[in-house]
Amino acid sequence: MEKIVGTTEEEKADPNYTDVLLAEPRVRKPVEFTGMAEGHACITPFGPHIVYSRMPGKIIKSLNKYVDLKIKRGHIKKLDHSPHLVGKVSQEFRIDQNQIQKIAPFFNSTFGAYYQFHLQRKNQVLNPDAQIDVHYNSAWVVRQFGGEYNPAHIHTECQLSCVGYLQVPDFSVEEKKEKKKHFPSHGNIELIHESSNQWHQGSIRIKPHVGDFIIFPSYLLHTVYPFRGDGERRSFSMNISLDIVKKETK
Ligand SMILES: [Fe+2]
Repeated sequence: MEKIVGTTEEEKADPNYTDVLLAEPRVRKPVEFTGMAEGHACITPFGPHIVYSRMPGKIIKSLNKYVDLKIKRGHIKKLDHSPHLVGKVSQEFRIDQNQIQKIAPFFNSTFGAYYQFHLQRKNQVLNPDAQIDVHYNSAWVVRQFGGEYNPAHIHTECQLSCVGYLQVPDFSVEEKKEKKKHFPSHGNIELIHESSNQWHQGSIRIKPHVGDFIIFPSYLLHTVYPFRGDGERRSFSMNISLDIVKKETK
């Protein structure tokens, strides 16, 4: 497969070079609002974007089965990934490449959608002769129980990261017992870009549900709050890189 890279030093140093080569139209157009006959449109043109998707039931089932089997067979120690992660949680262990390949077709399409949104924001489209290759650098499961948490951190050696939820306790049971009802955060993930200000949202706090799948730039700070009570908050994450390559001809 032919990867498209720049030839001059300037092109090689330009992280968007492949976009320029493969995206159409190549000239960046100004935004026009004249097509809008009436009403209002909300546009959020600045900052990083995240993509939200729902995982099909068979993916959730397959990953839960994988995790349960690894626990049952006592493979957790062998797959331990915690030295590479910051989580203050019970278990973090690798998902092997065989399992990743089983579920890759669904995730390839969601990462493809992320890239398409990226181009859309730049007023470009992917060249029909190009395809998006997804490289799964690493993948791991996080098993979090009451009182455990994940300090704010970023992911390295990749372009994009993601999180998918496989099991989520009902946080509201314990939240209802709290005196302060505002700002419920039990077991939430927060993606942080910068400080919020007037007319400016700098972070997003998300209450996870089973099947939620979120893609975000790997450099985006994120943290997971602890929760009280029983149950397992089980998620998985992957670090990936994208290559825009010329479509394979059969
Ligand atoms: Fe993380």
